[in-house]
Amino acid sequence: MESKNATVIGLQWGDEGKGKIVDALAGTSRYVVRYCGGANAGHTVTVGSERFALHLIPCGILHKDVMNVIANGVAFDPEVAVDEIKGLQDRGVHIGADNLSISSTAQVVMPWHKQQDLLSEQQLKDQKIGTTARGIGPCYSDKANRSTAVRVADLLDEKTLTQKIRFIATIKNRIFAALYEAEPMDIDAIVEQYTRLGRDLSPMVRNTGAMLRDAFDNAQRILFEGGQGSMLDVDHGTFPFVTSSSVSACGVPGGAGVPPKAVGHVVGILKAYTTRVGAGPFPTEQDNDTGEYIRRKGKEFGTTTGRPRRCGWLDTCVVKYTSDLSGVDELALMLLDVLSGLDEIKICKAYTYKGKTVKDFDPALMGQVECVYETLPGWSEDLTNCKRLEELPANARSYIARISELIDRPVGIVSVGPGRKQTIANQTQIEGLT
Ligand code: IMP
Repeated sequence: MESKNATVIGLQWGDEGKGKIVDALAGTSRYVVRYCGGANAGHTVTVGSERFALHLIPCGILHKDVMNVIANGVAFDPEVAVDEIKGLQDRGVHIGADNLSISSTAQVVMPWHKQQDLLSEQQLKDQKIGTTARGIGPCYSDKANRSTAVRVADLLDEKTLTQKIRFIATIKNRIFAALYEAEPMDIDAIVEQYTRLGRDLSPMVRNTGAMLRDAFDNAQRILFEGGQGSMLDVDHGTFPFVTSSSVSACGVPGGAGVPPKAVGHVVGILKAYTTRVGAGPFPTEQDNDTGEYIRRKGKEFGTTTGRPRRCGWLDTCVVKYTSDLSGVDELALMLLDVLSGLDEIKICKAYTYKGKTVKDFDPALMGQVECVYETLPGWSEDLTNCKRLEELPANARSYIARISELIDRPVGIVSVGPGRKQTIANQTQIEGLT
């Protein structure tokens, strides 16, 4: 039987607008699952006149009858989670054990991870990765190291937690003193804080893998919510300028504890242009008036860190590669309205490397390729009230058609504004949107 599940992933360097599409699909899903990353993500959802910025809690929290799952692949920061839960509850959003589950085997972001993220970036100076400073890399490093890792289940057992914190924090204090001449952390304070956090969160901690496999066996609809963007994938992105988890759809089975078949219909989200935060190669970057125009009109400043995003033209070489990697079934083209008012729009359709056209995309060469652009005519009309494809200016429709052709996939959804209603469904195959 064909799975009803859906996976929503970013096809660029993150911030593509996944939150809006996840929100649109959440209403018809029984489970909404975060399987990668952590509080480095920032998903913005606009409901009526209200804007919600979610970092760790899945976007399904804004819907009734959805079980939101923070799965085993997430770097789970209990401090951020408790703050985010309280912030949402203060705004009238119900959150409890009946709509939020946290995997007992997810890795915990500890204070030393955040400190190490900051210290190591400071030490790298102009070689730095430009992380979100949320402790993501150090947390996943400890996962791989095993003996210095803390998992969610550890937070629930005061004795184990105390022993682990004392053992690990003593090692970290020595390392930080030797490498960065840092002051030692207050170990007792950490024990106290994390015991309290564990107590607050304990009702929601579960074996989420078993829960999701059971849901899959019973054909209950699961929506997997990607974090970041595929070019930040630790295996397939612009390494080392990437995040530390598997953020493409390839990361779903491992990150959620489900069989690969559970991935379902893969929706790839892309902006009508490209942005990137942090360091690393970005072939279509426009560090000029065009980039500034896009940044201002698209409000391109980080949801998590507030940093101005680097902006540039749409790179279809990137999006074709990331779509192929994840087996994307259809595209959702976001923020098309931002391009209104440009006389011409460029689209990168190929790369050359040492004068020759690049046939097979290689993320390792990203810093050395030259872009081959095609120039399309722009449009001046405001798109934000368009409800159907036919209402878009002819040049905007031609732009969409060319994107679809170059990426070799249907553009099922076009978004022309942040609101739930500013979404044009263009023969999408995604159940729940039509
Ligand atoms: P980290 O995930 O904080 O270690 O950051 C590594 C790289 O990924 C940096 O370039 C960050 O700016 C980028 N990054 C991490 N999370 C996001 C996100 O949600 N959107 C966009 N970029 C991100």
